[in-house]
Amino acid sequence: MTHAIETHGLVRAFDGFKAVDGIDLQVPCGCFFGFLGPNGAGKSTTIKMLTGLIKITAGGAAILGHDVEKEALAAKRVIGVVPEDLALFDGLTAAESLAFTGRMHGLDRRTIAGRSGELLELMDLQDTGRKLVADFSHGMKKKLSLAAALIHGPEVLFLDEPFEGIDAVASRHIRKLLEGMTDRGVTIFLTSHILEIVEKLCTHLAVIHKGRLVAQGTLGDLQRGIGLDGDGAPRGARSLEDAFLGLVDAGDEPTRTLSWLE
Ligand SMILES: Nc1ncnc2c1ncn2[C@@H]1O[C@H](COP(=O)(O)OP(=O)(O)O)[C@@H](O)[C@H]1O
Ligand SMILES: [Mg+2]
Repeated sequence: MTHAIETHGLVRAFDGFKAVDGIDLQVPCGCFFGFLGPNGAGKSTTIKMLTGLIKITAGGAAILGHDVEKEALAAKRVIGVVPEDLALFDGLTAAESLAFTGRMHGLDRRTIAGRSGELLELMDLQDTGRKLVADFSHGMKKKLSLAAALIHGPEVLFLDEPFEGIDAVASRHIRKLLEGMTDRGVTIFLTSHILEIVEKLCTHLAVIHKGRLVAQGTLGDLQRGIGLDGDGAPRGARSLEDAFLGLVDAGDEPTRTLSWLE
């Protein structure tokens, strides 16, 4: 079976420091995949390699069977991405941003106008009019970046911390939208450190810690404490939080204090 996303010994080094240190991911088609890890674990670096935003140092990756380096264009055609820094142009309005992205994907004006109207309404950005992206709040930028990632109908969607900075109303709309997409066969790869959201949405998970995969499996596997190769996650963990903290060596640490606040 072709996986939606597959990596083999994927490595990214920055001046000799391996931010991602040889990971082998298998993401089944149509699943809602949560990529978890503490700050600095290598989540964003992995997404950037998978979406062609930065170079791969060693190993490789494929999206729906397309090698992300050798068949970069074919891989990029089927993906949508909301990167960490959102990648929007400050000098455009919301509608102009979507028109620009639509044109980049080769969509005609009529299709762009129709989809852009629907997307702006869904994200509650329809009344932003002539306001420029530079003057958007963080949450508005995030929603616009997600709208732009959807305009061409991607088969694999990469979302780096999509719910961070988004209000509860928008968060619910977006969750429903994403669930509807996976129901129709789209694969979603999401990074997050918000375990409640991951637990609600994701069917499959991997946990990365210091650039290495420490667990991979279904949500149920991880909750039951069955990690990578059967011995990664602490057995008998009762919740995803217990499992996660056990995997990243933070489960039993004593509570830390600050000397001047004691
Ligand atoms: N461009 C870069 N140059 C040097 N180090 C980087 C760069 N990007 C990321 N790193 C380092 O790689 C590690 C993983 O970063 P990142 O993938 O952003 O983590 P996460 O998204 O899991 O929080 C961190 O130690 C970070 O400082
Ligand atoms: Mg990150």
